[in-house]
Amino acid sequence: MLARTLIERKRDGGRITSSEWRTLMQRYGSGEVPDYQMAALAMAIFFNGLDRSEIGAMTDAMLRSGASLDLTHLRVGRVDKHSTGGVGDKVSLVLAPLVACLGVAVPMMSGRGLGHTGGTLDKLEAIPGFRTDLSLNEAIRLVERVGCALIGQTNEIAPADRRLYALRDATATVESIPLISASIMSKKLAEGLTGLVLDVKRGSGAFLPELDRGLALAQTMIDLGADYGCPVVALLTAMDRPLGRACGNALEVEEAIMALRGDGPADLMSVTYALGAEMLLLGGVVADRDEARRRMEVAISSGKAAAKFEEIIAAQGGNPAVVEDPSLLPQAVECELFLAPRDGVVAHVEPRAIGRGITMLGGGRTKVEDVVDPSVGFVITARPGDIVRAGEPLATVFARDRDGVAGGLAVLREAIRIADDAEPPLPLISHRVTEAGVEVYDG
Ligand code: URA
Repeated sequence: MLARTLIERKRDGGRITSSEWRTLMQRYGSGEVPDYQMAALAMAIFFNGLDRSEIGAMTDAMLRSGASLDLTHLRVGRVDKHSTGGVGDKVSLVLAPLVACLGVAVPMMSGRGLGHTGGTLDKLEAIPGFRTDLSLNEAIRLVERVGCALIGQTNEIAPADRRLYALRDATATVESIPLISASIMSKKLAEGLTGLVLDVKRGSGAFLPELDRGLALAQTMIDLGADYGCPVVALLTAMDRPLGRACGNALEVEEAIMALRGDGPADLMSVTYALGAEMLLLGGVVADRDEARRRMEVAISSGKAAAKFEEIIAAQGGNPAVVEDPSLLPQAVECELFLAPRDGVVAHVEPRAIGRGITMLGGGRTKVEDVVDPSVGFVITARPGDIVRAGEPLATVFARDRDGVAGGLAVLREAIRIADDAEPPLPLISHRVTEAGVEVYDG
């Protein structure tokens, strides 16, 4: 009865109290409240929103639906990073070993693909043998031993979010500031962090494309962190084009490995260094961003960051040899170049079309139970603003068969727009948001 009452109240613009949120999430976690009622509530929230104290209460109720990581015995800062979701966003794969090898503990809990966006868990599972379904105890031992654990949500941590996340994907209720904030912060606050860095995406491929909504999302999550004494810093970064060149699980792992070996694309490295500097500052191991940048560059050029990735992969049951030899990653059966259809300027590389294209190729899910093919995707070398000639290669499709190749080429024809001239793309990193307020990012 409670769920129906709350759906009705939220539908009519009313409020849900803290104790109602707690009871609702407990009953949802135990299976007493069915998915169809949570879906109806999510839609009511999508349209009518939640006020600040309701967002806090919902987050707290989801956080308490499971256990938390207790890492207080570690004598180092514990910092994670989370992205609000993008296409080609393999930053976590580079950042986790990079920051961990510089002395900050990184207990990183990630999600699977959601909507058109990719998920870090699906990418990691492209590495043969890699296990993301670690128990809490295994994760704690790993952070103690290796300085990092790359895990998924088990039933132990924020199980209410785990179910709701998949449900929102299936019911078109992802794009809501209260729901995204509660989802991200309930699992991040369960990690027992001393700091959190958020990569809030903006632009056509983001769940919330508009700058003002991205800033509001960042501010909401920073406030939620403050409720628990966890400092949160957010950077607003561009998602009006994919990040880096590779889009698709194994292809992105390969690009992340190349980045750790010193050969990453410039945009991926800029976002990685910017977020990494914030993590190192929050972790208390550097005095300023310049020192952070220098230490990260040395960790990459010396091979220390790549060695840490090997160590993490081995510790989580994967084959660490992929770092030396990325050809050990799953390989697509078919691949074909996509050529520029005309002379002109690359006006747009549409991330949503690319993200949906990966799903069409078999690399993403339309249903929770779908099995993902890690080998498929796109490598897109064309960047907005590039001047191109007809017949010049702009991208490559990686597919399971010839039908996949044909479908992939059709996706690229739609996603890569060549015109006579082009609007400038969004700045790669535009704003930095902290408890103190919003500043224009100055690098
Ligand atoms: N990432 C999450 O963890 N949750 C959301 O709702 C969106 C992105």
